[in-house]
Amino acid sequence: PSDKSIGHRALIANALACGEAVVELRHPGADVLATADALRHLGVELAVREGPDGRWTATIHGLATDGPERIGRVTLASAQLDCRNSGTSLRLLSGVAAGQEATFTLIGDESLSRRPMERIAVPLRRMGATVDTNDGRPPISVVGRRPLRALHHSLAVASAQVLGAISFAALVAEGTTTVTTPAPTRDHTERLLGWMGARIDRDGRTTTVRGPGGLRARSLVVPGDPSSAAFWLVAGAVHPDADLTIDGVSLNPTRTALIDVLREMGASIDMEPDALVDGPEPAGRLRVRSGERLRGITLHGDRVAELIDELPILAVAMATATGRSELRDAAELRHKESDRISLMVRNLDAIGAQVTETRDGWIISRGIPRNARIQTRGDHRIAMAFALAAVSGAAGTVEIDDPGCVAVSYASFWEDLATVSAAAGIPSPSAVSV
Ligand code: S3P
Repeated sequence: PSDKSIGHRALIANALACGEAVVELRHPGADVLATADALRHLGVELAVREGPDGRWTATIHGLATDGPERIGRVTLASAQLDCRNSGTSLRLLSGVAAGQEATFTLIGDESLSRRPMERIAVPLRRMGATVDTNDGRPPISVVGRRPLRALHHSLAVASAQVLGAISFAALVAEGTTTVTTPAPTRDHTERLLGWMGARIDRDGRTTTVRGPGGLRARSLVVPGDPSSAAFWLVAGAVHPDADLTIDGVSLNPTRTALIDVLREMGASIDMEPDALVDGPEPAGRLRVRSGERLRGITLHGDRVAELIDELPILAVAMATATGRSELRDAAELRHKESDRISLMVRNLDAIGAQVTETRDGWIISRGIPRNARIQTRGDHRIAMAFALAAVSGAAGTVEIDDPGCVAVSYASFWEDLATVSAAAGIPSPSAVSV
């Protein structure tokens, strides 16, 4: 599937831009479609069409009417935006709402309604918007204004969503906004907005946006999601006789940390960038081949934020490795679609791994694989990680309580798993009722 992070940003940025653009997405997940629906709700002309082979196109008519120097304005006085399960939609759209002269309520499902939002509310208030949260969580209400005030802000947690929200708001601020993050994060906002004409740069851990600025609509093909490719990289690295190629994946260096980690654990992975890239993001092909048995690893500090979405499947790799693995400094995982530390630990224990929960991570060693029923709490990455635990031998047979939840980021996951399983001579997943 297309990269979720780039997909959200491509839709939002083109909705605020001047002109028309076509964004091509492969198997877009429910999260990206939530952003598309929210933008339509804001009055953006945005038509999504499903084509052959899971290729979708979103044709967007940008809201900017006074040229590419300005960010488009919504014409509604108020709107309620349902972001469903998608934290990225809610946070990025709050940044957009802060710069519109209207009142917005942003809501989400039960999981999203538990996630922390003061991290966006605080900087957006400092920029001049009125933001109320429900005790720090959604629903949140945003009364925007334009222009906003420029801001110098240091993030307490390394979050690309928060950085993205402030960057969208900074496009309608008077003056230069700078945001510093405590550790490196994915840089899709900077790449995309810069490519569309905004004055935005990243230098190390500081992003600078010179406002006010505008965006020119630009068409792009969103490359594949490295966080989805991660499942196959681990499958290939763990299998004793694998040779698996994944085409068209984003090779943005802020998203490839898993490849380095798996290589350190002993995996053999080649990366072949495409020579011609038509867009702001590098893309290419990944090939993973069986090598030695994976070795345990310790991860902490700056490396964690760039691996954040891959940590559940990495835990499965850790549960197949020789020796002990440890993850520290990952308390942020407790604030994702579920508390991924406690849920991974509980399910790893159920499949027979030796696992200890810590405040900010886990300690994992191999155990004796068992059959287990996996509790996902509707978290897509938990479901996919344990499907892969079964096919990679870290677990016996698993029964996943909510297989349909994978559609949040990877609608074609079960089909792809059936294809890979058939090629590998592993029984296909059965009784998947989505
Ligand atoms: C995302 C950033 C990450 C990631 C999420 C998508 C983004 O969250 O977990 O799936 O698109 O900006 P944080 O960087 O906010 O932790």
